Amino acid sequence: EKDGYDWFMRKEIFEQPRAVADALLGRRDAEGKLQLDEMRIDASELQGIDKIIIIAAGTSYYAGMVAKYAIEHWTRISVEVELASEFRYRDPILTRSTLVVAISQSGETADTLQAIRHARAQQSKVLAICNTNGSTIPRESDGVIYTYAGPEIGVASTKGYVTQLVACYLLALYLAQTKNTLYGDEINGVMDQLEAMPAHVQTVLDEADKVYQFARDHVDTKSVLFLGRHAGYPVALEGALKLKELAYIHAEGFAAGELKHGPIALIEEGLPVFCIVPPKGRDQLREKMVSAIQEIRARGAATIVLAEHDDEAITPYADEFIRLPKVPVLLQPLVAVVPLQLFACELATAMGHDVDQPRNLAKSVTVE
Ligand code: M6R
Repeated sequence: EKDGYDWFMRKEIFEQPRAVADALLGRRDAEGKLQLDEMRIDASELQGIDKIIIIAAGTSYYAGMVAKYAIEHWTRISVEVELASEFRYRDPILTRSTLVVAISQSGETADTLQAIRHARAQQSKVLAICNTNGSTIPRESDGVIYTYAGPEIGVASTKGYVTQLVACYLLALYLAQTKNTLYGDEINGVMDQLEAMPAHVQTVLDEADKVYQFARDHVDTKSVLFLGRHAGYPVALEGALKLKELAYIHAEGFAAGELKHGPIALIEEGLPVFCIVPPKGRDQLREKMVSAIQEIRARGAATIVLAEHDDEAITPYADEFIRLPKVPVLLQPLVAVVPLQLFACELATAMGHDVDQPRNLAKSVTVE
């Protein structure tokens, strides 16, 4: 069943080009308009939405953080992202014009389920983004976008995550279409870019051996940091979570702009720091990231830089350079997460851990 791979997780990482393609399949009608078959929430109702609250846990929460950047940018609807376990207990402000989006790979996460029950009791519409057909969360929601990743066996989410991202982009574009905040041509332009993503993900996978090599080089490391900005920030958090789950080592993700507000004190000789650099078109963001990299390198960090393949200006500051395809900043998480998944999988393997069944973890957390 593992198709010759040592772990389901590794197999699922390599299935991502196919999973992303499947998640995009059949989403445009003959006229090129977006259609979401199981949306089930009327256009008239969506037009009245003035706030979105995304609720999720773990990796799904980090997908939700990326979704906030995309939805706000394309629709101008304000978005909050909330941990499912915190949501009910802060007495959230929910009205009929609030759309609650629950993201869950399994569709059975107890915290997320309780959160949508709370939201529906307050008359809000609930849309699920889910990978598991017929699971409880989509059954109890008003509408659903299925992610079509196929069964995910590894406890650490990989193809589940990238297909959640695709579903979030689709939701953002669908709302933009419904609320007329983007022209049809603009929506089709982003859809074309999304349809190019499976090939881009494959390009990153083709470099897996290089990532494996420096994962093995770092087998004795006690801690790893991850830095990103904009949509790269949630990717940094996701990279750190993968490493905690699988390698049982301390790992933390930061927004690069926060470094000087504290975390830079952690930097010491030889500490591996992954740095996700925004694409070259986004110069303001990119330059700030580059100066953060210079600062940590001056303090002895071993920088592992993920940047556009021809971003040569970065090479003097990169102890390792992972080359990414050229994609828009909002879509960059789809490619930037892949080396982080490969790194965690390989480091945990080299440490002798069970990658598919990490200690203390369950695939779906059905208790609160
Ligand atoms: O099934 P869900 O998406 O609701 O699960 C949420 C989290 O439990 C899950 O993403 C968890 O963090 C994974 N083990 C991450 O790899």
